[in-house]
Amino acid sequence: MSRKPIIAGNWKMYKLTGEALATVIALKPLVTNANHCEIVVAPPFTSIKLVADKLEGSNILLAAQNVSGETKQGAHTGEICGDMLYDIGCTHVIVGHSERRQYYGETDGQINRKIRAALRFTLRPIFCVGETLADRDESRAEAVVRDQIDQGLSELTAESLLRIIIAYEPVWAIGTGRTATPETAQTMHAFIRQSLGRKFGAQASETVRILYGGSVNPGNIAELMRESDIDGALVGGASLEAASFARIVHYDR
Ligand code: PGA
Repeated sequence: MSRKPIIAGNWKMYKLTGEALATVIALKPLVTNANHCEIVVAPPFTSIKLVADKLEGSNILLAAQNVSGETKQGAHTGEICGDMLYDIGCTHVIVGHSERRQYYGETDGQINRKIRAALRFTLRPIFCVGETLADRDESRAEAVVRDQIDQGLSELTAESLLRIIIAYEPVWAIGTGRTATPETAQTMHAFIRQSLGRKFGAQASETVRILYGGSVNPGNIAELMRESDIDGALVGGASLEAASFARIVHYDR
């Protein structure tokens, strides 16, 4: 089964509008020939529309970093509805990032609502899962991830799974410079695919893309991408600079 890789950049809470624009202006020409993968950037909310205008007609897709679980506009101060993201040109949205789980108390139930709300507005969720260091040290990494998958994807059909992208991001590898080895990542990716297979059937699980995230950089992307169940990367720190993100996109060179 060949799955088109995705290289996605998560800018987190970085970049004023001018910096966001400068980054995509620099990035566009560096990746125009990259047809081997889908390229996604996720700027902070304040820059999405500006970046969208700049990226029109390019091969770079746009993600938001969060979405409301509500499916109708309404009195929800501080929230952003999926239709608003779609309206300004987003095609993807990151859901359930570990920073949102850790610092903002997002629960699996809320994440499930957000995934369903995103799908409702034809946004593709990039659904993040991953264990903490304590989970791994105490040998429950797989159980934790399986639980996140089961609850996050609860009540979804195999058909909707095809619109979802999974990102395996071990919490201990995020922003720490400590990448999972390709073998560790591959083992978990295979486990995730197997769990999805049990839940949604082999066809859907073989088609869904599973990205790795956690200290991905231009120096380690190629070996990660050689693993059979790693279908791309969700990149934080190394996506902030156009040249370094472009080198990750061109991991095959
Ligand atoms: P990092 O972040 O690449 O800086 O480790 C990845 C992420 O949090 O998505």
